[in-house]
Amino acid sequence: MIQVSENTITITPLNAPIGAEITGVDLSQEQSPKVMKMIDDAYNKYNLLLFRNQQLTPDQHIRFGASLGPLEIHVLKRYLLQSHPEILLISNILREDGDFLGLPDAGQTWHTDTSYRQKPSRGSILYALEIPRDENQQALGDTLFASTAAAYDDLTKELKDFLHGKKAIHRYSQRKRPVDSKREKLTKEQLQETPDIAHPAVRTHPHTGRKALYLFEGECVGIEGMPEEEGAKLISYLTQHIIRPKYIYRHKWNEGDVIMWDNAASLHLAVCDYKLPQRRLLHRVTIEGGVPF
Ligand code: OGA
Ligand code: MN
Repeated sequence: MIQVSENTITITPLNAPIGAEITGVDLSQEQSPKVMKMIDDAYNKYNLLLFRNQQLTPDQHIRFGASLGPLEIHVLKRYLLQSHPEILLISNILREDGDFLGLPDAGQTWHTDTSYRQKPSRGSILYALEIPRDENQQALGDTLFASTAAAYDDLTKELKDFLHGKKAIHRYSQRKRPVDSKREKLTKEQLQETPDIAHPAVRTHPHTGRKALYLFEGECVGIEGMPEEEGAKLISYLTQHIIRPKYIYRHKWNEGDVIMWDNAASLHLAVCDYKLPQRRLLHRVTIEGGVPF
């Protein structure tokens, strides 16, 4: 427990291989450098932070995100909050023109964000405004997070040695979507903008030096220097390994929850077990990251 002026801030690891909950911080306020350093360190250490009962305006959400690094503007412009393009709306709510208010199917297969780019995002900060519930008021639309660092730790020495220096090939157009996804196919220009990219199969965390697996089925199409089929088999094996229950934290959302995750050390998955009139709305800001190594 850390005493910061009158505030008592607690950082409690979740009962899972990833994540910690922080209490005693009101994210709507500007934080002191000391508190920001503590949050940043905890973010790097636990790879996922949970803050509950927050109330954030778009400006406050953006200010908090920007204090952790430059923010990205998402490519899907029509799902940005018009007045605040740093905010991406994740939502199944329909607008008057019949389109979705936000990205309705963000992350419904296991993935890590923008790994198809040369510089994938460091992480996202998701703020829950509306959470769907069943008839018993149980929250639906959970998000699962898997620790790719814990999954790496448990590999055999032989497999770690084998993966050392290997690169997996990420292809955006290959990314799996939910079966009923209404997303349009990528245009020729978008395809040209997202060429195949090879990233280390095992990446080193830029702040802690901890190693983590960095590949997953449904986007990675092979391993450089390996026959296609063999590479695909290895990717599949490692993905199944990462998503074993023992590496997973499952978050049941409440309105007011804020979760930030670390793309250098985790995969995540959004569970789609709700539909209108059960509404889901989250605001997301995305922090820029560096080239994986
Ligand atoms: C994302 C994402 C998961 C969710 O925003 O990158 O995957 O549960 N969202 O909405
Ligand atoms: Mn995602």
